[in-house]
Amino acid sequence: MKKILITGGAGFIGSHVVRLFVNKYPECHIYNLDALTYAGNLENLKDVEYKKNYTFLHGDITEEEYIKSIFTDYQFDSVIHLAAESHVDRSITDPLAFAKTNILGTMVLLNAFKILWQNKWDDKRFYHVSTDEVYGSLGATGLFEESTPYNPNSPYSASKASSDHFVRAYGETYKIPYVISNCSNNYGQHQFPEKLVPLFINNILNDKPLPVYGDGNYTRDWLYVLDHAIAIDLVFHKGVNHETYNIGGFNEWKNIDLVKLLCEQMDNKLGRANGTSEKLITYVKDRPGHDLRYAIDASKINKDLGWSPTVTFEEGLSETIDWYLSNEEWLNNVTSGNYQNYYNKQYN
Ligand code: NAD
Ligand code: DAU
Repeated sequence: MKKILITGGAGFIGSHVVRLFVNKYPECHIYNLDALTYAGNLENLKDVEYKKNYTFLHGDITEEEYIKSIFTDYQFDSVIHLAAESHVDRSITDPLAFAKTNILGTMVLLNAFKILWQNKWDDKRFYHVSTDEVYGSLGATGLFEESTPYNPNSPYSASKASSDHFVRAYGETYKIPYVISNCSNNYGQHQFPEKLVPLFINNILNDKPLPVYGDGNYTRDWLYVLDHAIAIDLVFHKGVNHETYNIGGFNEWKNIDLVKLLCEQMDNKLGRANGTSEKLITYVKDRPGHDLRYAIDASKINKDLGWSPTVTFEEGLSETIDWYLSNEEWLNNVTSGNYQNYYNKQYN
């Protein structure tokens, strides 16, 4: 039985990847390693926790001895590495935490993998899940290609860029068979309400201001999380060793236009008069070092692996809102306690 270690599987994207792999590959055993930080939540995996081919490991990727011990005990054939500190705003207030988890944590995993297999690399793979933010910011035109030079601007993107470089370096130096993917902004079920879409859904529900940074003309390329999980499955199984794949939604939105669409859909679903939620939009102080525009050229994964998004933005956003509306308990649980402290510090 193949043993696949997925790190960060209790988080937003990781939980969708774990669910997909546990259900689709009963012949593989899926180990989910997660430290359960504020962003990790086992509620995200209630429907797979009883499955025979699933094991949860509670641990921290930066703890070298622990990581070495689980690699020895379980002999993972492959790693799909998603565990990270993932929020740009938090990286601005606490950059060292990002260096520790995203850079050191990735190196600890690479090292343990290298020591375990000692050059016996047949059927082994280290898959590093990364972000389009490593490429920096685009102007009004152009797209990020796999060959675009790295130019990260936030502590978060610098830490992810650094981890990508270490994965490549381990590939060149120690011949570890790796693949990397760099994806655009995800949205969907189970996303922690510190990111734009779920934060604004939660605020609309509670009649709170919608804090749009700067003039709202920043642009992102949005992808439904299940389409990202499908892409990760393809890259993991069919991607070529030592290659990078860009993943994106072919779906650019200025923040302010996205927020207006979200307001419109929320008003319809909540039976409120049109324009009610838009009145909550409040322009606030900009994010320092805010990247103007991200947009992905996903033609390589499309051509080589046959991947393209399956869900339109309007459909995906509607399903996302429906999920949050029918999972109020999930939302209440994650927005109590420490979340309030974070929110007050960040926005007041
Ligand atoms: P998330 O913040 O929702 O989840 C991160 C998970 O990692 C959490 O479950 C957390 O508990 C775990 N974790 C954090 N530190 C850990 C540690 N030291 N040891 C073990 N586990 C730890 O993040 P996400 O949005 O699901 O992103 C997952 C990955 O995908 C990240 O690597 C991120 O850089 C990348 N990515 C995210 C997006 C996006 O739009 N969210 C887009 C492209 C790439
Ligand atoms: O591009 C991929 C990246 O997308 C991932 O690597 C990151 O993990 C993920 O967090 C995301 O980064 P962003 O910074 O683009 O996402 P965020 O949801 O924080 O912000 C999206 C846009 O909305 C950005 O231009 C900032 C703006 N924004 C965000 C928040 C939280 C606001 O205007 N107000 C807000 O309150």
